[in-house]
Amino acid sequence: MLKDFIEENFSDKVLIIVSNREPYIHKKTGLSIRVERPAGGLISAMDDVLRATGGIWVAWGSGSGDRDVVDSKNLMLVPPGNPSYMLKRVWLSPKEVDNYYHGYSNQVLWPLCHITLDRVYFRKRFWEDYRKVNGAFADAVIEETGNDSIVWVHDYHLCLVPGILRGEKPELTIAHFWHIPWPDWSVFRVCPQSKEILEGLLGNDLIGFQIPLFVKNFLDCVKECLDADIDYHQSTITYRGHTTRLKAFPISIDFDKFNSMASSQRTIRMMKNIKEKYKITQDYIGIGVDRLEYTKALIKRLQAIDLFFDRYERFRKKFTFIQITVPTRIREPYISYKKTVEELVTKINEKYSLGNWKPIIYIDTKIEHEDLVSYYRMADVAIISSVYDGMNLVAKEYAASQVDENGVLILSELAGAADELEGAILVNPYDIEGFSDDIRKALRMPQKEKANRMAVLRRQVKGSDIYKWISDILHEVIKISSVKQKKCCYLFDHTDEIKERLSDKRIFLFLDYDGTLTPIVESPDRAFISEDMRSLIVRLKEYIPIAVITGRSLQDIKGRVEMEDIIYAGNHGAEIWDSSKIVRSQESGVESNLLKEFLDKLKNKLSHIEGLLIEDKGLTASIHFRMVKVKYLSEVFDILWRIAKEYEDSFKITSGKKVFEIRPLNAWNKGDVISWIIRNLGNGRIPIYVGDDTTDEDAFRAVKGKGISICIGGSPEADYYLKRQEEVEMFLKELIKLSEKNG
Ligand code: UDP
Ligand code: G6P
Repeated sequence: MLKDFIEENFSDKVLIIVSNREPYIHKKTGLSIRVERPAGGLISAMDDVLRATGGIWVAWGSGSGDRDVVDSKNLMLVPPGNPSYMLKRVWLSPKEVDNYYHGYSNQVLWPLCHITLDRVYFRKRFWEDYRKVNGAFADAVIEETGNDSIVWVHDYHLCLVPGILRGEKPELTIAHFWHIPWPDWSVFRVCPQSKEILEGLLGNDLIGFQIPLFVKNFLDCVKECLDADIDYHQSTITYRGHTTRLKAFPISIDFDKFNSMASSQRTIRMMKNIKEKYKITQDYIGIGVDRLEYTKALIKRLQAIDLFFDRYERFRKKFTFIQITVPTRIREPYISYKKTVEELVTKINEKYSLGNWKPIIYIDTKIEHEDLVSYYRMADVAIISSVYDGMNLVAKEYAASQVDENGVLILSELAGAADELEGAILVNPYDIEGFSDDIRKALRMPQKEKANRMAVLRRQVKGSDIYKWISDILHEVIKISSVKQKKCCYLFDHTDEIKERLSDKRIFLFLDYDGTLTPIVESPDRAFISEDMRSLIVRLKEYIPIAVITGRSLQDIKGRVEMEDIIYAGNHGAEIWDSSKIVRSQESGVESNLLKEFLDKLKNKLSHIEGLLIEDKGLTASIHFRMVKVKYLSEVFDILWRIAKEYEDSFKITSGKKVFEIRPLNAWNKGDVISWIIRNLGNGRIPIYVGDDTTDEDAFRAVKGKGISICIGGSPEADYYLKRQEEVEMFLKELIKLSEKNG
């Protein structure tokens, strides 16, 4: 599916990824050059993206051999051996590396966003070089941008790049993904450059965060710091005439890749080799995999392990913990942190070692994913103890590699992953006693419970993998880009042109209901038309025919709008009502009890999911998941698709805003409804369609070339967009004025 989407949408576009860290580092070793892949969640995820889309990755050339392998434009093809995209390197002087990278990025923004304020350390020179280097990155991007480019910036090193690009190329589509947490204003205000950082980021069209809490924190920071127009409902910020949209997109991993690597014979052999190499003969193995990073709270983890062996002596000689730590950012405070961690490992090993057994095996080199899966698969427990973490991919990699469903994930409740990963044992890393008890609980967990929990975890990661993440972000980006490329223009910038087009013409107005006549609300039951909107429609219908087109049942929509002289098309047009009678009632051709049977199965399997609404509308059904917690979504989707498969000869499923629609295979879409009404009731009138959702896209297409289509929030299929639902009233007022003039 992602492949189709990319082929369809990226064939005429170039994706430019911009990050501080490069995906491949060339290092000189004697006369030869060796390639390395750095550790870190960002690199793992974005390399997969560019392998799929092709394009260019702009990053700091940090390797000693980097300059030897690029061309005159600092470009080279990667990945080695399987080239699919270009890497463009930006060169930094040692002073810039000190001030911009080790300084402002790692000693200001990183600790600030991870709420470790005692590690925040400002210097004027940090900020000066941060600005300078951000300028150099922006220049490198501009060298590669054409009209077809989409720029996707990453993380806290490059906050000023979007603002600079926006100034240079106002029409460019720019998105940013913020991989780490965004703190609330009481923390962020500590930053002396808070205003400049926020202004730089508001050069973006879209900013993605890991979880909704970080979106909210960002909105609050802008509210406190800048004079901007903030829409909390839509999560948009308009500042100095430019609108930025914010949204949570929890990052993930390539589940299938980890799953199949972990299932391989190579992994089985490797597990045996590891045990032999480290002389592991014990019953239980634990694993920790991290960059050597204070936010991962390795010291708290080791203290919990120390207390565990102290309290539960029977696990001595029975449990071995393997800690893999990759050193990065080798400067203070990381150098001291490394020393403290290593001293603690030595102390614990000295304290508890017996015969050939030592409690902790400490590996301080990077292990590639192909090998890492063996460690993951053989571990009975994985421990993630971050005191704050944007997501934590290791948690997801461990679940994907647990092909035997034998292991238990102990996960800090302060990591972004805890928002999603039901099935893990959640710990508070500050509570060392509770933490050590949880290690025991994990090791003593009955096999059945372990398997159940792991099955849930694996389903969650599989259901929301890296490809879903990419596709969710790129869908949003493509939508924004088509609006910017004026395939879909802001309606109120074109009112004169529209008035001229409609002057003296007879119009037919089609309106979607949810999200168009009413704001989107938590529960569909509570979507009602405001009094102002109602009185505008009452006035307008004196002049022009109006049809309300909805996925709701006819009875429901009539009850909600409650107006005479309006055409209602319910169930996506299966039932059409005009002037006090039904003028179309589609026989679905499907046995009526088949839908009921389908829904009963769903209800039965999903009865435990809080917030899920299954709405039976007779001919069709809607499954609303707006109120379902993120962590349950993959289970919902999984079960829905599994049951849907049994009924694929009778029903199709389409998706809208947090809703799935189940409809008979031969059912109409909103485009069919428009065409039918125009043909049978339209009498040569020009159609105008206003909608907001993906199910309205068929209607936009049906109106193309014949009339005017308007989408709230924008769509590549629509002629115009409105910024928010409230603007529908403004548009209706304009139509009233025009109709009065047309007479
Ligand atoms: N990693 C790796 N080899 C190692 C240690 C870590 O490839 O020896 C990778 C790990 O598999 C994961 C990433 O580094 O993909 C760490 O990402 P995470 O989100 O857990 O933390 P971050 O380092 O981004 O803070
Ligand atoms: C986290 C950050 C990334 C960073 C990575 C490794 O994942 O979000 O931006 O690349 O850590 O850190 P390093 O400083 O070595 O690039």
